[in-house]
Amino acid sequence: MCGIVGYVGYREAYPVLVKGLHRLEYRGYDSAGVALICNDGGLNVYKSKGKVAELERYAETQDVSGTIGIAHTRWATHGEPNDVNAHPHFSESERLAIIHNGIVENYALLKAALIENGYTFKSCTDTEVLVQLIEYVQTTNNCTLLEAVQMALRQVVGAYAIAIIEKGDPDRIIAARKSSPLVVGLGNDEYFLASDATPIVEYTNKVVYINDGEIAVIERHKPLRVVTLDNEESTLDVKKLRMSISQLEKGGYPHFMLKEIFEQPKTIVDCIRGRINVEADNVILSGVIDNRERFLRAKRIIIVACGTSWHAALIGEYLIEEWCRIPVEVEYASEFRYRNPVISPDDIVIAISQSGETADTLAAVELAKSRGAFIFGICNVVGSSIPRATDSGAYIHVGPEIGVASTKAFTGQVTVLTMLALTLARAKGSIEQPLYLQMLGELVRLPDLLEDVLRLNARIEDLSKIFTYTKNFLYLGRGYNYPAALEGALKLKEISYIHAEGYPAAEMKHGPIALIDSEIPVVVIATTDSIYEKTVSNIQEIKARGGKVLAIVTSGDQTVRNIADYVLEVPTVAEPLSPIVSAIPLQLLAYYIAVNKGRDVDQPRNLAKSVTVE
Ligand code: AGP
Ligand code: GLU
Repeated sequence: MCGIVGYVGYREAYPVLVKGLHRLEYRGYDSAGVALICNDGGLNVYKSKGKVAELERYAETQDVSGTIGIAHTRWATHGEPNDVNAHPHFSESERLAIIHNGIVENYALLKAALIENGYTFKSCTDTEVLVQLIEYVQTTNNCTLLEAVQMALRQVVGAYAIAIIEKGDPDRIIAARKSSPLVVGLGNDEYFLASDATPIVEYTNKVVYINDGEIAVIERHKPLRVVTLDNEESTLDVKKLRMSISQLEKGGYPHFMLKEIFEQPKTIVDCIRGRINVEADNVILSGVIDNRERFLRAKRIIIVACGTSWHAALIGEYLIEEWCRIPVEVEYASEFRYRNPVISPDDIVIAISQSGETADTLAAVELAKSRGAFIFGICNVVGSSIPRATDSGAYIHVGPEIGVASTKAFTGQVTVLTMLALTLARAKGSIEQPLYLQMLGELVRLPDLLEDVLRLNARIEDLSKIFTYTKNFLYLGRGYNYPAALEGALKLKEISYIHAEGYPAAEMKHGPIALIDSEIPVVVIATTDSIYEKTVSNIQEIKARGGKVLAIVTSGDQTVRNIADYVLEVPTVAEPLSPIVSAIPLQLLAYYIAVNKGRDVDQPRNLAKSVTVE
């Protein structure tokens, strides 16, 4: 949930750290802070509530010299966002400074024991308990910082990615992870540490992902060491980053979210690249093909996810059941992990996660794995925790998604689910060849179709002005577009803070239609499909009660055009792929309404890009 950055090398550390925090700020931004071993050997901590810019303002008058440091941007779990609870946290003696991403679940017990041993606490955080524990262990055992970290972490229950530096040791950062992400960048005679690769990629493309239970000993002028809590040396698995720095910039757009909406024609190309052989009329999702037997004997597929990824999962259910005739259950990961679900070794569990770090989804994966299910991941961030916990998977390859509101990841997830369903259906022989070829052709056409849809941009920007002060919205859809309606509602509410509810269109009659009046606009996805006439009836029911309807229709539609108040036309596409097409206008509508309201579109209040706490 938060962002961690560390540096040791020949550069001034502070500028590197602050720039890294800006790159990670989308992960959480309640407060920010930095710890530096300055040129006079002092260990200085500067931190403040609010965004990184606040920290920069505060640090302007401070000594920020030094070539080693750690920095943190916080998403609070224990202790409100304020200056005292901000990271880094000093140990009692102010000899150690720590930053932490995650939750120390047994912090209360540890804190009580430390208080009994005379320790006092300044903050309400679980993190301060951790640094006090490390100092206590180091003092009572008269051991090195590494040994103290190993002993202390063996007592910790919960999730952590930590970095710690010690006064008087200007050459070493100790970092450790369990469940929260951590990656080390290997530069020329310099090291970088971060929660993900975005702060690292402009300096080096060589990285080592730290695994659960590992500790990185990052020392100036020395080779990187990675050891376990039991001090066993780990073999370094150096990866080469494929991310480019330009992908991390806004590219002239006012917000990352708008850039990422407009990237979708290209990201779909990247997503299907190497997976569709047009000449051979073949979809090749290798993660499925390599595990063909496992998929063919599956009696059931369970899909676990959260938020937008859960909406993509619902579409996956429709696709797989329609083409593969395998029962699919879609579960909120946060519910699945706690309800003691029935999981059999014949089950396949698909975990969908853009960040690959969502704590609930990761926990659901670990639960399913422990009961013998085969785990298939559909993620975006390469090397993140969920893909590394799965048996196989498929990356969506849409590039870094910086905007907190997920857009290109959603269409990438649905595209991969479509290819998975086609690959599996072909292997099972459960899909007729003409339909298979039609869907394959539609996937290849998708980037052009999305370019068409994006031409609605100016029209939607204008239309959005009508809704700037609306208080409530309803989003309706049927079939494949019911999840698309849910996703459209989530987009609006999470960036504009307007209440919006997605609903199956047919369900209106069972209660929600009581909400209809001229004050609550209803967005209806009414593209031409197998249940189009039913959706038209729903629109008429709304109009008969004085409701305002904004309809997404297929180009050339004359029926809905004569009933609805506002119409947005999208190109014709095969019904199973229509959620990808109809998602775009709903992303733009949410974006422009939020901009009209002056919202912080890329970093909406209370949210973070990756929910790595429970
Ligand atoms: C989507 O716009 C939200 N940011 C949120 O619902 C997100 O989809 C959810 O937190 C799951 O994240 P993940 O895909 O990284 O697991
Ligand atoms: N649990 C710690 C806190 O509340 C860290 C939260 C985070 O991951 O940012 O300060």
